[in-house]
Amino acid sequence: MNNLLPSRREVLLSSGGVLVAGSLKGTVDALSQEVTAAKNPHKDLMFRTTDPRNGEPELTKLVNSWQTPTELFYVRSHAPNPEIEVDQFRLSVEGLVRRPGTFSMADLMKMPSHLTTATLTCAGNRRSEYNSKEYQNVPKVSGVQWEAGTIGNATWEGCQLAAILKRVEVLENAKHVWFEGLDQIQKNSSIIGFGGSIPLEKALVDNGPGAPLLAHQMNGQPLTADHGFPLRMVVPGYIGARSVKWLGKIVVSDRPSPNHYVANAYKIVTKTDPLDWAESGPIYRFPINAAICTPKSGSRLSAGAIELTGYALPTGRSHSQIKDLMISADGGRGWTRGKLIGKKQDFCWQLWTANVQVNSKT
Ligand code: MTE
Repeated sequence: MNNLLPSRREVLLSSGGVLVAGSLKGTVDALSQEVTAAKNPHKDLMFRTTDPRNGEPELTKLVNSWQTPTELFYVRSHAPNPEIEVDQFRLSVEGLVRRPGTFSMADLMKMPSHLTTATLTCAGNRRSEYNSKEYQNVPKVSGVQWEAGTIGNATWEGCQLAAILKRVEVLENAKHVWFEGLDQIQKNSSIIGFGGSIPLEKALVDNGPGAPLLAHQMNGQPLTADHGFPLRMVVPGYIGARSVKWLGKIVVSDRPSPNHYVANAYKIVTKTDPLDWAESGPIYRFPINAAICTPKSGSRLSAGAIELTGYALPTGRSHSQIKDLMISADGGRGWTRGKLIGKKQDFCWQLWTANVQVNSKT
């Protein structure tokens, strides 16, 4: 029997948006107490590597809820989780600023707190599909061979990056904001932290769900070690790589970060020669995407009506939402309209279901 899963999907976008804002305030003491429990909570993931930790959930479980429970939220790390004492922790903010400074967790938790729901997705999501028959003529992408589970939708709480930048007073010639993680990644013969970088215009967004956060809470709990305890960036609408975990340093600059994960990795190149590599810039916003999550890929099913469920991701642009979803079970000859389910919110995925009729000849 043929693989009866539809082979093409099309997703349309419209505008609209909802802001989720709140003012949950924690204390550093409460944060420290909850940490012991949060350090190694249970994860229901298929781990592709365990040192460092890289795991994704089964897709059938992932689409059960619009807000992804932390135990089902993918983990993408380039080095072992660093052990960070909250009391000793300091975030330094420097570069093209009038008043460089350091912030303790207590300082950060005194700042106005914001709650945002945003989808994070790894730029390498679905990478393993390049190994399939359909993509025979496309170059393979090295790295962890992810299926479609490196995506999740969580609530994040913390202060806005814009508020920190206001405190340190950004100078006129600034154009980019760099982030540096406290993890230690072995790269060739040196040890580096994971770095990210975003344009100043995005860093300064201070209204609506697109505002970048220095988050210390995920789904109403302190961040777990896997997700960047005690502090991480969350940049709504951007590829996950810009949401630096275990955030230790912010640098304001007139150029993008020279860190390996901005300057060399996470780029779209058509060829892999050095010139092509050097000419392509960093990826910022995540692109449109959609995946079928149930039935499981490769399932053998009887011909007839089949109920599908999945997720669709609008682009990371402000006011970008999924308006309509059409699905074809016969290579694009006929199309069925899917039903959008769950919430519809800017910077968040959209869950959907569809009933398709499949016959044994498709
Ligand atoms: N930050 C640090 N310090 N180290 C990392 O390895 N991985 C990045 C980003 N931030 C990473 C990091 C990548 S590639 C992704 S997709 C997201 O974190 C994953 O976040 P998560 O593990 O909380 O899902």
